[in-house]
Amino acid sequence: MKIITSIEELRDQLRGQLRTAFVPTMGNLHEGHLSLMRLARRHGDPVVASIFVNRLQFGPNEDFDKYPRTLQADVEKLEKEGVYVLFAPTEKELYPEPQEYRVRPPDDLGNILEGEFRPGFFTGVTTVVLKLFSCVQPRVAVFGKKDYQQLMIVRNMAKQFALPTEIIAAETWRAEDGLALSSRNSYLSEQERAEAPQLYRLLNDVADEVRGGHLDVFELERKAMARLAGRGWKPDYISIRKRADLQPPSAGDLANGEPLVVVAAARLGNTRLIDNLEI
Ligand code: PAF
Repeated sequence: MKIITSIEELRDQLRGQLRTAFVPTMGNLHEGHLSLMRLARRHGDPVVASIFVNRLQFGPNEDFDKYPRTLQADVEKLEKEGVYVLFAPTEKELYPEPQEYRVRPPDDLGNILEGEFRPGFFTGVTTVVLKLFSCVQPRVAVFGKKDYQQLMIVRNMAKQFALPTEIIAAETWRAEDGLALSSRNSYLSEQERAEAPQLYRLLNDVADEVRGGHLDVFELERKAMARLAGRGWKPDYISIRKRADLQPPSAGDLANGEPLVVVAAARLGNTRLIDNLEI
């Protein structure tokens, strides 16, 4: 695997490649990321991964400085997956001057749910994703469904800008006890790790209630928030939304069987976990 840190060198290396499959990451790779690499391989060749902890998507009180950086271990994992190029630019390479041109997602998608609790987050994500796409020029790019809203926002961006990159969704990779894999799981203490799968259990219970015909969405959300809070979590939101646009379903949508997803974010100790489940 070639490890490339400069945009120019990356372009030289990938010149003429028409079927590049790209997986952008922030590193600290786990089995979930590796499943994205395998999916990428099924959709294109060569597979290119990137590792870049993108300051633009972190708020001033978030974990940019302490975000786990494990390049050597990541390289070994990517090599085993047959990744052709790892693009791992420095901040100076990707942002040689202040990034004043940014991509701002529409408010009704970018400022709800994650965007409400992490102002500016999605602008940071779309800006770096567009820039990485412009460096790699992939035909396909793979994003995990665990970041459900991110996936939708990137997909809409690609569509609205007519980018020549198809966005592929990968299923969430879970530990045996149901916890969605995330680099932030490494912040959990042993006790918190044992508690963490409760989030997924709760999502399943909410989904079961909806499937069973309980359609008072507001009441289901309220009960779910209270249940997590009762176990010592600090939930930001647990919300039943339409899969199509992440807006709350109307009574008509519910009656007509509109496809739904339940999305959640909650803090366990100092660690903020997110998860979702399609209903
Ligand atoms: O999901 C992530 O790891 C990041 O948001 C991404 C897509 C690599 C952009 O920095």
